[in-house]
Amino acid sequence: MNQPTTKVPFMDLSIQWNQLKEEFTAAFHSIGEQNSIILGDEVTLFEQEFATLCGASYGIGVASGTDALHLAFRALNIGSGDEVIIPAHTFVATAIGIMLAGAKPILVDVDPDTFLIDTAKLESALTKRTRAICPVHLYGRCCDMDKIEEFAQAHNLAIVEDASQAHGASWNERKAGSMGDIGVFSLYPAKNLGALGDGGIIVTNDESLNKKLRCLRNYGSEQKYSHPSFGINSRLDSLQAAFLRIKLKKLSEWNQMRHQAAKIYNSKLKSIESLITPDLLTSEENVFHLYVIRCQQRNLIKQKLAEIGVQTGIHYPKPFYLEPGFSSLEYGVGSFPVAETLAQQILSLPIYPGITTDSIEIVHTSLKDIMSKLA
Ligand SMILES: Cc1ncc(COP(=O)(O)O)c(C=O)c1O
Repeated sequence: MNQPTTKVPFMDLSIQWNQLKEEFTAAFHSIGEQNSIILGDEVTLFEQEFATLCGASYGIGVASGTDALHLAFRALNIGSGDEVIIPAHTFVATAIGIMLAGAKPILVDVDPDTFLIDTAKLESALTKRTRAICPVHLYGRCCDMDKIEEFAQAHNLAIVEDASQAHGASWNERKAGSMGDIGVFSLYPAKNLGALGDGGIIVTNDESLNKKLRCLRNYGSEQKYSHPSFGINSRLDSLQAAFLRIKLKKLSEWNQMRHQAAKIYNSKLKSIESLITPDLLTSEENVFHLYVIRCQQRNLIKQKLAEIGVQTGIHYPKPFYLEPGFSSLEYGVGSFPVAETLAQQILSLPIYPGITTDSIEIVHTSLKDIMSKLA
């Protein structure tokens, strides 16, 4: 069968490229002419600028969001024999980061309306081994940090925010990443702030954690050939930092564009009764990394949209804890009913800075047409 012509792509990174390519090219030449390729001034400047954006004191650039999580738990001395509470509905890397540190993720089901960790169920995950909680600000919206802080304080737990999908988002005017002991971000290209390759950044307000994390990302080394801790090689390249500094200036505008696109989607899709649309909130409260609806017969709808040329995604089609790679966690089908229902019903519609109203209208009319025939 011939592939249909793409009418609406799921995302379009070429818009950012075309907007900024002169600046990217100048940065590329400038780094090439310097001797400072790994870490270096551009990384330091990006770390400072990103930390400032988050309202945090320190930023530590690393090679990926997964490494950021791994090192965050290592810096908190959380490892073998320790447990960390996470949502059952998240990207697999949240669990991987914890497991790389040697600790065990303990899952909690999510709220069916927000898709975020269900704070009413936190107590049930608590054991004498619980050391931390890792809320995930999924799809661009922050978790209920008041409840999470209250719970963490009551049980003496560290908080590591996985803000990989929430660059620039806020909770009650506090920025994602700055509310816990440590905040971690992926800088994967498709994120709200993404490098032109892999990258990640950790933020914290704690000076001693900052120092530890700087060592851990660089062979456990403070100075060359002195290794006070056992670290790894997980650094952000100067080149990626230079690109990220250029993109960082656009983050707020791009987040607003995402929010505006979500607003248009919500107003158009409200006439389709059988779809559940996300809460809009304000442009600070929801930065719409993804625009995720809920529907019955999701796979059929996705397939029919693809036949028309509308690309969609599923984040995520299968709860990660049911995958063989996570059998050691000993969860099975039925462990987290909300997460499992969501995995069957969620559909991510195209959203990116620069998506046009016409494209959104194509998605809307296509969905309307498909749904009326299904009814
Ligand atoms: C919620 C979440 N956590 C962690 C990660 C891992 O980030 P990375 O792909 O940069 O390792 C991602 C991104 O892919 C993510 O979405």
